[in-house]
Amino acid sequence: MPGSSISYSDNSYFLKAINGVSSLYQFAANTIFSIPRAFSDTYKIWNNRENFIMSELSQRAETSHIAFGDLGLPFSCLPKIVLVTGGRANILQVADYGEKNGDRAARNLFKDVVDMAGAKTIVNMQGSEAAQQRGKLKPHLLGDLSLAIASEVSQQVFEKGIKNWDYESSFQDNITHIIINVLGNCVYGIPYVEMKYVPVVRNAQSLLFENNAKSAEFIRTKNKMSDMNKALMTEHAASIFNSENYIKSQIELDGTEAEEEKIQMLIDAHGASGFLVEGNLSGITMVAIAYINQSEEIKKNLQEEIRLHADKNIRPDAKTLLNKTDFPYLQCIYKEALRFLTPHALLVRQTSKPTTLKIKDAWGKSTTYSIPRHSVLFSPIRAIHHDPKYWENPESFNPSRFLNNAENEHFFPFSLGVRSCPASTGFVEVVFKVMILESMKYDIQLDQQVEDIAVDTIHAHWKKEYFVNDISCRSESAPRLA
Ligand code: HEM
Repeated sequence: MPGSSISYSDNSYFLKAINGVSSLYQFAANTIFSIPRAFSDTYKIWNNRENFIMSELSQRAETSHIAFGDLGLPFSCLPKIVLVTGGRANILQVADYGEKNGDRAARNLFKDVVDMAGAKTIVNMQGSEAAQQRGKLKPHLLGDLSLAIASEVSQQVFEKGIKNWDYESSFQDNITHIIINVLGNCVYGIPYVEMKYVPVVRNAQSLLFENNAKSAEFIRTKNKMSDMNKALMTEHAASIFNSENYIKSQIELDGTEAEEEKIQMLIDAHGASGFLVEGNLSGITMVAIAYINQSEEIKKNLQEEIRLHADKNIRPDAKTLLNKTDFPYLQCIYKEALRFLTPHALLVRQTSKPTTLKIKDAWGKSTTYSIPRHSVLFSPIRAIHHDPKYWENPESFNPSRFLNNAENEHFFPFSLGVRSCPASTGFVEVVFKVMILESMKYDIQLDQQVEDIAVDTIHAHWKKEYFVNDISCRSESAPRLA
């Protein structure tokens, strides 16, 4: 069955193409051409591809907003590297690539997601097939009722998560556990996912950046994902069939199926691999909680906003949380967490036919560029979100930069266009804001200051695991949700 689960990966599949090219180049450079490596892009790709894409090429694109990686070999079958930066109009062209011109290669680089998830996912689809899957997902992420449920569930799951905090597991594991259970309840119809599955999901998310589906670790984790899916689908079959949820929407029953047959259909749909998408949301939540607790100023500003609302008897619910003027500072924290982390750091598409890109340069002048077939298109969103040309002190976590609804033309954490994140128009915002308001009831101190995350990374995450020694109740001043 097509599209039997959702998931998407955070996009390092281009590395496969580049890996192939770099080893071919290395061989050629060593034996045939003896091209001086130090001066070639290919050597840099081979040596540190993340830095080459996110930093070197990004800087090269400074004024024209487009840069080409020169692979130094004349073979037309080898991929060309094209990096696009700048504002919305430029990024949109990379984001939408493959949709309007029907280039079926656009999503070739997401093949490992199918492997890890056990089924084709939205991210592997294009055109009407993808639109149909998005249509099945959206009712669980949008609309007054779904968002009201999302805020209520988030509050309950967070409270339970704090009460049952697993001090042996890291801060990241605990927050991921909470977010997995919010998604399980709001989107997938799975009422409870045990902590033992958290490391499996987190490991699977990480491995999708390594681009080595043949590695023993990848295969081991993929098998564990499959075991997790089987266990969850078997245990929660009744809940899934008795509620409206995304996994159920993947199954077509004709009413004649025996119970075991129905369970097998759920297992074959690989719905639990949809948890692969939760990493972005748990990422911004943990970053925000950590920085709020590390900064007296941010903490004080947010506490004042909470007190003000309590005094006015304004109860935060999905509606007030989405209304930008009701909780303006919380809104700034939300945007800053998205900018600061940019969990989806790099957009990537592949071409199999010649195309053109109309790119606006730093002065607003448009130039049309011919892009050869077999190109890999990149947009380094994280690098743009940390570019000092567009952001003052980009390395500091400073929610106030978004005060007074300050807009920035260089801000697109959810990508743009028809393939932008379907959870961006309410779901992520409601869940995040409830998590932050709830977390303000407690003093959640990590065992150490969190580390910086390099700008030139395509997997934006802390490398260390952090732990919480004790969670104490701060006050009762955080408002109850309506
Ligand atoms: C902070 C939270 C999140 C961020 C920053 C984020 C970011 C993104 C971005 C940038 C894309 C586009 C990727 C591309 O074009 O290559 C995307 C796609 C997607 N996101 Fe999210 N996401 C978040 C949370 C979620 C959640 C919670 C869900 C599900 C419940 C979700 C489901 C999806 C799906 C299904 C797609 C694929 C859409 C398609 O290919 O048409 N995301 N997300």
